[in-house]
Amino acid sequence: MTHPLVDVAKELAPSFERRAAHWDTTRSYCWQNVKELTDAGIMGMSIPQEFGGRGANFLDVSMVVEEIAKACTLTARVVVEANMGGISAVMAHGTNAQKAFCAPYVLAGDKPAICITEPDAGSAATEMRTTARKSGASYILNGTKHWITGGGVSKLHLVFARVLDEAGTDLGIGGFIVFADHVAGDVPDGFHVMGRERTMGLCGMPEAELCFEDVEVDEKWLLVPPSGLRRGFADLMSAYNSQRVGAGTIAMGVAAGALGHAQRYLLEREQFGRPLAEFQGLQWMLADMDTQVHAARLMLYDAARSRGPDGSLFPDMTAAARAKLFASEMAIKVVSDALQMFGARGYSDREPLERMYRDVRMFTIGGGTAQILRTQIAGNVLGIKTPQTRGGYVQSPSVPRFVAE
Ligand code: FAD
Ligand code: COA
Repeated sequence: MTHPLVDVAKELAPSFERRAAHWDTTRSYCWQNVKELTDAGIMGMSIPQEFGGRGANFLDVSMVVEEIAKACTLTARVVVEANMGGISAVMAHGTNAQKAFCAPYVLAGDKPAICITEPDAGSAATEMRTTARKSGASYILNGTKHWITGGGVSKLHLVFARVLDEAGTDLGIGGFIVFADHVAGDVPDGFHVMGRERTMGLCGMPEAELCFEDVEVDEKWLLVPPSGLRRGFADLMSAYNSQRVGAGTIAMGVAAGALGHAQRYLLEREQFGRPLAEFQGLQWMLADMDTQVHAARLMLYDAARSRGPDGSLFPDMTAAARAKLFASEMAIKVVSDALQMFGARGYSDREPLERMYRDVRMFTIGGGTAQILRTQIAGNVLGIKTPQTRGGYVQSPSVPRFVAE
């Protein structure tokens, strides 16, 4: 049985679709949609009931995401980040105080920001340089994160950082819950939102650089994953697998939306005295698009239901990587083919396809590139570690690494 919020998402989708061009052309955040999602209970629907959410699982969330992504890619990204990734890491691994603090913000409409990437640590995320050094009962954060989705509009931030003890010894990677309300001006000293990227698509979402200069964070906001800091990165990335499923689902939803536009247009537009739908060349294109979308949907459902090893609460790494890889590459092709079916009209911003085409291009990059996901999948198929550094180890002296024979 599908979750009741899937039907609610279907009801909200037409107004999201009507407003999608507005957020794109004005490069403004979709606050009005966020309010409707909040009122509907979609923001934070995955939060357990004891903390005020609906306790929805990742499959339920994915089905909601698909319905919204068909209408507005930007709004679907808000739904993913309000239910997967950072918030799900907190709800799975956080202390009760952390959960009780974060849940109400998300349920009231906040989309938490997950802060991993740095200027010199993109795909090589384990080479991050942001540090959190212990000082009494606090940690002092220093470093720069960039391409942070929601930078400047999100209040909750899960900041990945190298945790150092007072002597400066590297204990591993942890996540810090940092609260900052930039809209209301309630921001910790030393936390700066720097430049916003002028992106090709998803233009209503700020992608910002965040700088931390001696930002003091109480030790109670350190999220220590179950295996401890030494394995902190792996555990946090394990939670991030949910967001990879979410990102793949957005891409698939956009492709499904484009397929719908194409199907309607083929029946409506006539050339050579008959509807485009009668030309076999286009029928076969449409059949391939439909088949690809369906295959991606099944892979994403499978990944959303999967669980990693050792009692993990999160999707399996390889299942998530496969599904995101397939869905993101498929969606670029399907949206492009749908645009092609509209001829010149598809190239105009009078139709949504040019926006969808720009939006969907992102999904083979953000959240683990197609190349990185292939490397992870290959490692799983071969049953070997696939270290990418020359020599097979990272220079960080305190992190034990596999060394290629
Ligand atoms: P690089 O790592 O510099 O890669 C450049 C190219 O080289 C890519 O094609 C890559 O696939 C390839 N490459 C790199 N290493 C290898 C290898 N070993 N083998 C083969 N090919 C390789 N990050 C966050 O932390 N939080 C966010 O909220 C967030 N949101 C984002 C939103 C958008 C719209 C985008 C575009 C990015 C976002 N990111 C975010 C950052 C994103 O995760 C990174 O862009 C991504 O991990 C790749 O890093 P990079 O851009 O530095 O590329
Ligand atoms: N799920 C679960 N565990 C994961 C994981 C994931 N998605 N990604 C990595 N890990 C684990 C690894 O299995 C490994 O554990 P092990 O030591 O028990 O084998 C540990 O984390 C370190 O991973 P490894 O692949 O050895 O790290 P690396 O130093 O070679 O770095 C990554 C490679 C993980 C950073 C790279 O593959 C990657 O995912 N880059 C993209 C980063 C990203 O998605 N950023 C999104 C920001 S929004």
